[in-house]
Amino acid sequence: ELGDYHHFMEKEIFEQPVSLENGMRGRFADDGSTAFFGGLNLTPQELRHVDRLLFIACGTAWHACLVAEYLIERYARIPVEVEYASEFRYRNAPLDKNTLVIAISQSGETIDTLAALREAKRKGYRTLSINNSVGSTIARESDGGIYQHAGPEIGVASTKAFTSQIMLCAMLALYLGRLRDLSYGDGVEIVKALKAMPEQIREVLRQNDKIAAIAKQYANYEDCLFLGRQLMFPIALEGALKLKEISYIHAEGYPAAEMKHGPIALISEQCPSVFLATSGEIFHKSLANIQEVKARKGKIICIATEDCDIPEDLIDDLVVVPECHEIVKPILMSIPVQLLSYHIALERGCDVDKPRNLAKSVTVE
Ligand code: F6R
Repeated sequence: ELGDYHHFMEKEIFEQPVSLENGMRGRFADDGSTAFFGGLNLTPQELRHVDRLLFIACGTAWHACLVAEYLIERYARIPVEVEYASEFRYRNAPLDKNTLVIAISQSGETIDTLAALREAKRKGYRTLSINNSVGSTIARESDGGIYQHAGPEIGVASTKAFTSQIMLCAMLALYLGRLRDLSYGDGVEIVKALKAMPEQIREVLRQNDKIAAIAKQYANYEDCLFLGRQLMFPIALEGALKLKEISYIHAEGYPAAEMKHGPIALISEQCPSVFLATSGEIFHKSLANIQEVKARKGKIICIATEDCDIPEDLIDDLVVVPECHEIVKPILMSIPVQLLSYHIALERGCDVDKPRNLAKSVTVE
């Protein structure tokens, strides 16, 4: 089943151009400006009456929800909240009456997510789910949903399911945006960007050897920070989760600007940072954050889009990702983060597909 690969995690990372193509297939409208989904069980008229979205999930899927929050607020201008499923179910949160609840779960069997979904349904909210397992409990119990079609994910650490969840949230942002104020032209740009993405991922994957060489130099640290702003903040959280779960290195993700409010105390020669830098309005502020780390002798791996001009003397290692539309940045930037964790874990002799203490599907509370 592994073919030429050594581990399922490696195979699943490399499958992403195809798993993402499969998730897009047949989901773009003929006019080339929007996406659509067969199973939402909600008409455009009903969706126009939704005032708020609440996303619930656990772990990696929760990080995908944070990306969804950013993209849907930006492109569809609908307020979004994101909750850990395990917290939501006991919090008894008052929700707006026109709230649509969306559960994201790769397995569709995570008990905390299921319990949160049931609580939302009990209160009479309309529910949707995004999941990768056809016929799973969460898929069956939600009022409508979107299947990921990413193919089975065997490695315990989620990789291709994560990028697929982000992509579907981006497509949902596009669809909801086009029902509201997103223009035809902006819609066309986004569709083009999504269609171009699989090839751009292949370009990133071709840097595997380079990333493996970088990983070698960082395999013996015991702490690591992942820093990013805006859309890159959830990817920083995901990078930290990936590294800690498969390599057992203590890692934390932060919005880069939060450093000065505490975490910067951790920076030293013993604690490297992974910076996720993309071009855009606050790029120069990311540079200032990189400088703060450098000044404290912290090693820096920078993962950056091509259009970022990162002064070479500021960083120790650089991985460049192709220039792309904002909506696909969180997906493209995830790939080097996954590869970095994978290779660091291998260097440390860890069982990447079956990390200690973890199960693929968490069906206990
Ligand atoms: C981490 C990971 C977990 C899952 C979480 C939710 O790599 O895989 O954090 O994301 O247990 O699982 P699902 O998506 O099946 O509900």
